[in-house]
Amino acid sequence: MVHYKELGLVNSRELFQKAVKGGYAIPAFNFNNLEQLQAIISACVETRSPVILQVSSGARKYANQTLLRYLAQGAVEYAKELGYAIPIVLHLDHGDSLELCKSCIEMGFSSVMIDGSHHPYEKNVEITRSVVEYAHKYDVTVEGELGVLAGIEDDVVAEQSHYTRPEEVEDFVKKTGVDSLAISIGTSHGANKFKPEQCTRTPDGILVPPPLRFDILEEIERRIPGFPIVLHGASSVPVDLVRSINSYGGKLKDAVGIPEDQLRRAAASAVCKINIDSDGRLAMTAAIRKVLAENPAEFDPRKYLGPARDALKELYKHKIINVLGSANKA
Ligand code: G3H
Ligand code: 13P
Ligand code: ZN
Repeated sequence: MVHYKELGLVNSRELFQKAVKGGYAIPAFNFNNLEQLQAIISACVETRSPVILQVSSGARKYANQTLLRYLAQGAVEYAKELGYAIPIVLHLDHGDSLELCKSCIEMGFSSVMIDGSHHPYEKNVEITRSVVEYAHKYDVTVEGELGVLAGIEDDVVAEQSHYTRPEEVEDFVKKTGVDSLAISIGTSHGANKFKPEQCTRTPDGILVPPPLRFDILEEIERRIPGFPIVLHGASSVPVDLVRSINSYGGKLKDAVGIPEDQLRRAAASAVCKINIDSDGRLAMTAAIRKVLAENPAEFDPRKYLGPARDALKELYKHKIINVLGSANKA
């Protein structure tokens, strides 16, 4: 067992308290490889933003859990080397069992999500409480979820979404002891968050999704004032990235995300953690496609992964400065 404090990591408790009071959100960026981690840390150091490094079950399978853990440990030293020791949380994204959460905590994670949202309410309470009991012994913070997002949640495919029911939140928070709560107010995972028929279209063909349910968020805030709220599925799916990918041979159809002005509004409220993964995937893919299309003879991975990393870093800086408001909060 290695404790996260030995690795120089922090849990999310104090970061969330400050973010709720300050009206901004901490970025939660997923990583699966070296270039993503370099982009995240350099963007956050340059903007002086705290950060949550998220590891999904898929990332653990892809990259090897031990390697990811050492990469995160390296990230703490890398930030110092870049000149500023930002607070770094290492977080399990969409944990689906107590065993998985335990294993991550034993490897040095400082925060875990237990996603029981697809279970019936009582089962969700039970599994979430069991994770909280274990995690709090080690001062590891726990994120629970109420309500189901549409789209793909790791191994769990939610065909049908349902919004969080505000009347459940007080009871859930009290019974489970969670430190933060992910809610469903209209966001969803992936690059195709809405069906075209759910959207309107601008004259130049851009899909405009239905607005987030801020009325539900406000009702939740009224019932659990100041409690840290988390938004998953918060990529914006920038039109210029989708167009760039498609112009270099990609085939992304009807991709649509959450407009950034809505995320800014959410970040100013009790939403203090905003999860972004798909936008980063789009930024990397756009850069790689461009390099390879323009330089078909190129075969050195650094020549396309380097520009992908640069594009990713710029995207993250934009999110931190213009969307989440977490710049200079480290
Ligand atoms: O919420 C899911 C995250 O985007 C992680 O995706 O399961 O493909 O790693 P993944
Ligand atoms: P996006 O697919 O919208 O980036 O959401 C990521 C996420 O919620 C990770 O948990
Ligand atoms: Zn998610």
